[in-house]
Amino acid sequence: MATAPSPVSIRPAVAGDAEAIRQIYNYEVENTTATMDLVPRSLDEQVAWLGARSGAFAALVAVRPVGPGADGLFVNGSDEVVGFAALSPYKERAAYRPTVEDSVYVRRDLGRHGIGRLLLDEVCDLARSSGFHSVMARIEASGAASRALHAACGFREVGIEHEVGRKFNRWLDVCLMQKML
Ligand SMILES: CC(C)(COP(=O)(O)OP(=O)(O)OC[C@H]1O[C@@H](n2cnc3c(N)ncnc32)[C@H](O)[C@@H]1OP(=O)(O)O)[C@@H](O)C(=O)NCCC(=O)NCCS
Repeated sequence: MATAPSPVSIRPAVAGDAEAIRQIYNYEVENTTATMDLVPRSLDEQVAWLGARSGAFAALVAVRPVGPGADGLFVNGSDEVVGFAALSPYKERAAYRPTVEDSVYVRRDLGRHGIGRLLLDEVCDLARSSGFHSVMARIEASGAASRALHAACGFREVGIEHEVGRKFNRWLDVCLMQKML
């Protein structure tokens, strides 16, 4: 198993993490099909997103320590955000409440170092301790890294939604994966 660049740790996200989360997320908005969003998030939108992530619908960040003022690094107090994960309601209607949906994003230059696995395992533990029955992932079907990460963390594929999204002038399928808790 890959090991995270030492020492990466996981903590709850706080408002001061909004800009670092936004930078990681907006790269995917603008360059990949990992998210169906088409327009980059503003800082205000990212702050609002974080504000909605409380209680059972939490957001976590993966962080590593940085020296104050280190060149080229985003510094938030004494640590640097290198990834994030969150839980969101799966669907609005009330009977879906035992189910939750995850998202997980890792800074591109730090991929394949075990950070995604740390985040996803932790967010699934959080979902379990919050009393959810299962976690769903909705992954654009060509997202091999995300599908493999979720499989490595105990998710299994439960279906494909065909051509439900359109981005970069092509149709996108969505792979549904589920982990029973
Ligand atoms: C998907 C993502 C979160 C994976 O994060 P990561 O930190 O690189 O993943 P890890 O290093 O923890 O990998 C854990 C396991 O996932 C699988 N995996 C991760 N990346 C992979 C890749 N590119 N190809 C194949 N398997 C991969 C492997 O099984 C890996 O275990 P191993 O390294 O022991 O073989 C990251 O690639 C990412 O942020 N992608 C863009 C955003 C995205 O797609 N998010 C998901 C939206 S639902």
